Amino acid sequence: MVLEGLRKLEYRGYDSAGLAAIFSENKDPIETERTTGFVSDLVLKANGRFDGAKISIGHTRWATHGGVTDYNAHPHSSEDGKITIVHNGIIENSMELSSKISKLGFSLSSETDTEVIVHLLDYELKTQADGKNHLDAFCSVISQLEGSWAIAAMATGLDGILISRKGAPLVIGRGQDNISVSSDVQPFYGACSEVAYMKDGDNFLLTREGIISQLDAVIPEFEILQGVYDEADPGNFPHMMLKEIHDQPTSLSNALSGRISSDGINAQLSGFELSPEQIRKVERINLVACGTAYYASEIICSYIRRLTNIRAEAFIASEFPAKSVCSPNTLTIGVSQSGETKDTLDALFLAKKFGSKISSLCNVIGSTISRLTGNGAYLHAGPEFAVASSKVFTNMIAVGLLFALTISDISQKEKKNIIKELRKLPNIISSQLMDMDDSISLATELITNSEPPIFIGRGALSSYVAKEGALKMMEISYIPCLSVPGGELKHGPIALISEGSPVIAIAPTDSNLSLMESSIRECKSRGAKIILITDNEGPVTELADILIQTNNTHPELSPFVNAIPIQLLAYYVGVENGVNVDRPRNLAKSVTVV
Ligand code: F6R
Repeated sequence: MVLEGLRKLEYRGYDSAGLAAIFSENKDPIETERTTGFVSDLVLKANGRFDGAKISIGHTRWATHGGVTDYNAHPHSSEDGKITIVHNGIIENSMELSSKISKLGFSLSSETDTEVIVHLLDYELKTQADGKNHLDAFCSVISQLEGSWAIAAMATGLDGILISRKGAPLVIGRGQDNISVSSDVQPFYGACSEVAYMKDGDNFLLTREGIISQLDAVIPEFEILQGVYDEADPGNFPHMMLKEIHDQPTSLSNALSGRISSDGINAQLSGFELSPEQIRKVERINLVACGTAYYASEIICSYIRRLTNIRAEAFIASEFPAKSVCSPNTLTIGVSQSGETKDTLDALFLAKKFGSKISSLCNVIGSTISRLTGNGAYLHAGPEFAVASSKVFTNMIAVGLLFALTISDISQKEKKNIIKELRKLPNIISSQLMDMDDSISLATELITNSEPPIFIGRGALSSYVAKEGALKMMEISYIPCLSVPGGELKHGPIALISEGSPVIAIAPTDSNLSLMESSIRECKSRGAKIILITDNEGPVTELADILIQTNNTHPELSPFVNAIPIQLLAYYVGVENGVNVDRPRNLAKSVTVV
């Protein structure tokens, strides 16, 4: 059951896996196995040894401290093998704690920040006063830790699992004949019918009889497990990423559904604690996010600025200057697919600390960020399994645009024009996906046989689509890609262009088109090969070496039609380069460390 759970969490990305189990006859040391590679490697190595286990914990590791090796993989065990633990997160004072445990006579057998915890627990259990139990020892160890964690520990003779949460997700599930704990609800589908969300600071002993806490602690209530498990099944597509790119007509339609008034004039994105009138009065709106979600946030901010008079700014969550941009009359919105990204979570905590109201736009229902903010809107893209985000990017922009329209004070006519086209978007994207000619394969061939490409765009919409294009291609093809706003080329990056350098130019029909033409000419006259992404059919197309024609739509909606070719290009270049595009190296789907 635990191995099956790990398999359901595989999409998160990891580099090693491990398993530990206690059997009815209470063998010691506790049976453990760990390996670099995939869960399937662990299954092979375990070779049926764990069948019939009574209590078991498993782990997939994404290396932070120490290389990707078998001995750094979790679980980590005490010297006598009677205690074993798994941990997500980072123990920030691990150096200090490791010198403490060395002085106590323990020696470390891994380079991880995790291993200190098991030795501290071992020491605590061996030295604690009479009358104290395993949970007391565990809580005492937890009180010495600094950083973030989701920890599960087992000990010979203990009929349960010790668990602790601070800053990394951990949820408890209950089924007919099991009680389980996991960093995500995915493994619970099919095994548990109820779920209880742990809060930061919770330390419990999980037993067959239920959750046991120390005297004054509050035990979370179980609630019905919502949602259904969607198997990561690419169907007729060779990879999940390609399937998810093709899911976009459906996911966009789900994002819009029920959020546009029946007369097609107004957008009504509800779920926010503040009413549209209250939001219109805030001093500023901050968006905090990372990676693809950050680029989507830049586009959303541009919508807010264009459609309202509210000051809006997007920030890379790990660089959020909360002190200078948060006060009680501000709103800070976290934008996240997983709803678990630690950097985004921390930025929201900081925003709250400095008095800002907080909200979120998340895809995963019941995720930590959506629960922390307690208000906001879901993205409704459905589960995204490929590590590189595709359908969630366009859903973030769609929901962000609905948000901007909901609070906007532009004329009804202007609003209606945008909403009319927005409603057509699923069909526009669908026909674009179906009608793709051979331009993507020609561009793929050019990119795989040339210097690294440069992505250019102009204006707050296209220059961020260009950035997303470069990120996507880097992630899944391992080609170092650059993205610059067209106007910035001449201030430095143009030095990189030589005969045959591919330049991917995003040039929708909008007010920046003639400036984009100048940027393209500057590149072309220095020998660049232009891969032009445009809906325009005018003279600009003559500048293209390879023309990727998109469907035509309202200028505000250009990021949607332009996202499709940049995602497809990244995908095909990645495949051509032999990369496992659904699980590129070094990356995780949920980044729960800082
Ligand atoms: C890129 C990608 C990442 C994520 C980033 C934030 O394809 O997937 O850049 O966008 O790690 O993740 P979430 O949206 O889960 O907060």
